[in-house]
Amino acid sequence: MSESKAFPEGFLWGGATAANQCEGAWNLDGKGPSTADVQKFADPKSLKELMDVHGLCDITDEMIDAALVSQDDAAYPKRLGADFYHRYKEDIAYYAEMGFKVYRMSIAWSRIFPNGDEAEPNEAGLAFYDRVFDECAKYGIEPLVTMSHYEPPLEFCRKYNGWYSRESIEFFCRYVDVITKRYAGKVKYWLTFNEVDSILRHPFMTGGLIESRFAADEFEEVLFQAMHHQFVASALATKICHENIPGSKVGCMLTKLTFYPYTCHPADVLAAQQRERATYCYGDVQVFGEYPAYLTAMYKNKGFDIKMTDEDLRVMKAYPVDFVSFSYYSSGCAAGVHHEEAEVTAGNTVQGIKNPYLPSSDWGWQMDPVGLRISLVDLYDRYRKPLFIVENGLGAHDEVGPDGTIDDQYRIDYLAAHLREAYKAIHEDGVELMGYTTWGPIDLISNSTIQMSKRYGFVYVDADDYGHGTYDRIRKKSFYWYKNVIETNGASL
Ligand code: BG6
Repeated sequence: MSESKAFPEGFLWGGATAANQCEGAWNLDGKGPSTADVQKFADPKSLKELMDVHGLCDITDEMIDAALVSQDDAAYPKRLGADFYHRYKEDIAYYAEMGFKVYRMSIAWSRIFPNGDEAEPNEAGLAFYDRVFDECAKYGIEPLVTMSHYEPPLEFCRKYNGWYSRESIEFFCRYVDVITKRYAGKVKYWLTFNEVDSILRHPFMTGGLIESRFAADEFEEVLFQAMHHQFVASALATKICHENIPGSKVGCMLTKLTFYPYTCHPADVLAAQQRERATYCYGDVQVFGEYPAYLTAMYKNKGFDIKMTDEDLRVMKAYPVDFVSFSYYSSGCAAGVHHEEAEVTAGNTVQGIKNPYLPSSDWGWQMDPVGLRISLVDLYDRYRKPLFIVENGLGAHDEVGPDGTIDDQYRIDYLAAHLREAYKAIHEDGVELMGYTTWGPIDLISNSTIQMSKRYGFVYVDADDYGHGTYDRIRKKSFYWYKNVIETNGASL
């Protein structure tokens, strides 16, 4: 790309993390345990096991009890994260060195309200994020804050059944009111729920739902009831944020699961369309402020009785989001008829049919830069709201060479290819794109497989899957590459 082909002025370049995967310090300074802190590492060895490892989220009360008495933090890697809690200054300095304009991060709800239901917040937790935001401000880095990224407070799940309970809305709004008042002068960009649709795939991690407590044939209805509460809470969070921080921008966050028909068989095309809806319906609610017809039809056909008041519907309509953010890593294929040769492979929190035209990562996620452009075009055509790519990246095994350097050219290739497609979407398709934050600018614990060895960072963290290591940081080759991309506003791509 030549100089004239730079990204739009003011484009927000940066990286994205989540508190539960990078902070560590799971029980320090008054923080309560969250769903992330009881997820045990299962040391998957094969791709098949890696794909099944999502099952770790199917947790029972007995597993939670056992986890809570366990002192073996290394067995629960999200308790340790990448030690950001103690090293945030160093990490933000790396981000500044790369020239980040924005840093997407999340606030751990249970650091502010340890059990979720307290009347008063935990001052030590609030003070920690003050320090983090002040550090960002020092370098002119704008925080983009996710209010809830896969970590409802554990007690809120055990005592109230998480997002299934109506009280969840009140507890969450209290939390949002506290953080938006406290950080009013420091944070302008907010996201409500990370990958809001993921409650269906990860009931415990996202929704705080302990599946074994519910009758199997009722659980799907429970999921959609919990989802309804999140929709109302998200609309109210948007309202609260706008009131407490005039001029603030609030986005929804979707898992962009891009599906192609495996063949042109109409049943395959229909299957792909229906899987795509699994992303769109949640965006539709948060952008248009009402349930799409196909979701209400599904409720009716399945006989679901989702409790919703007129006031819920009014609130959802009155407070839609300002922009649409999403994660994009890979695409998959869908089939409506059986294909003998079709192989199943992994993707971001889902499985799909392998696309014979695409390569896959070590974790089976299919790498598809053009799919990013397709996703941007589809989302923009549908919503006509500014878009923000808030996660994209390659989870890979990185090796430290004998001279101490890390040559992660594969990560550079992956990111560059995706950014070139994003550029085309902006310039050729007219998509309004606010920014781009790579997932995990520093290595952190994988959400799905709970491994440190599934690395995404520009900065390497010297720790293994068992919590061994110094946690010292090393710049990878991609660090210098991304610095240059930002310096040239994308023209170097
Ligand atoms: C997204 C999540 O689904 O994908 C992140 O928002 C997660 O929390 C990221 O880490 C990458 O997935 P994984 O499973 O490789 O960590």
